[in-house]
Amino acid sequence: MDGNGRWAQRRGYPRYFGHVRGTSRVKNVVREASRLGVKALTLYAFSTENWSRPDEELSVLWRLLKKYLIREVDELARENVRLNVIGEVERLDPEVRKVLFAAIDRLKNNTGLELTFALSYGSRRELTLAAQRFAEDCVSGIRHSGELTERLMSQYLWTSILGELSEVDLVIRTSGEKRISNFLLWQAAYAEFYFTDLCWPDFGPDDLKQAVEEYSTRERRFGGVRSPATSLPLILKADGHGNTNDVDRA
Ligand code: FPP
Repeated sequence: MDGNGRWAQRRGYPRYFGHVRGTSRVKNVVREASRLGVKALTLYAFSTENWSRPDEELSVLWRLLKKYLIREVDELARENVRLNVIGEVERLDPEVRKVLFAAIDRLKNNTGLELTFALSYGSRRELTLAAQRFAEDCVSGIRHSGELTERLMSQYLWTSILGELSEVDLVIRTSGEKRISNFLLWQAAYAEFYFTDLCWPDFGPDDLKQAVEEYSTRERRFGGVRSPATSLPLILKADGHGNTNDVDRA
């Protein structure tokens, strides 16, 4: 959700006004994601680095989040959306946590779009904590070091709540920046990237649709090669002896 501050400053408004407009964008973008059949949408709303912002800005952000959750929870329930959170949630104000977990609880039996807010989120922090927890499990004898696979590693990440959906297909970055900014580094290993100069407060349902349409034209090879017959990407599985046989289509 990048570019709120710049959007406001370019128009001569205080930065917080960009957050107000940015929050009002969330509703329609979430609805459009559901309509497009997107299974999981993660909004990077607040990074571990964002804690360094001035206190006044932080208090506006948390107030906006609470207001959004209180106002939109009925609509999210009608749209069959499930809500999740990833990040160091224990750092959030208890009042914010209360509203957040009430909304998560209310929507927990829904089966539609998995909407995840990344709050106080940092991917390096997530990976470090995962390594720590795995090491602790080894020390206590629940695990042994040799059994660590990529799949098992994924289970130690905050995104494990999303299961298979934790694999990111598309990252949309607003505001013209072309960085990943500590976002889902593990999960986005094979993601496609879409960059737009629009700041988040100007990003609407049509822009999401355009990004998804462009994504659908991308050829994803996952390190494999292209099939001349079908133009679908081929994935060649190695047999462990340097040979590739066993062919799948992605
Ligand atoms: C990025 O803009 C946006 C944020 C750091 C905060 C976004 C969070 C909210 C608006 C709170 C409500 C959240 C939800 C999910 C309803 P920026 O300030 O970094 O913009 P800049 O790069 O132009 O300064």
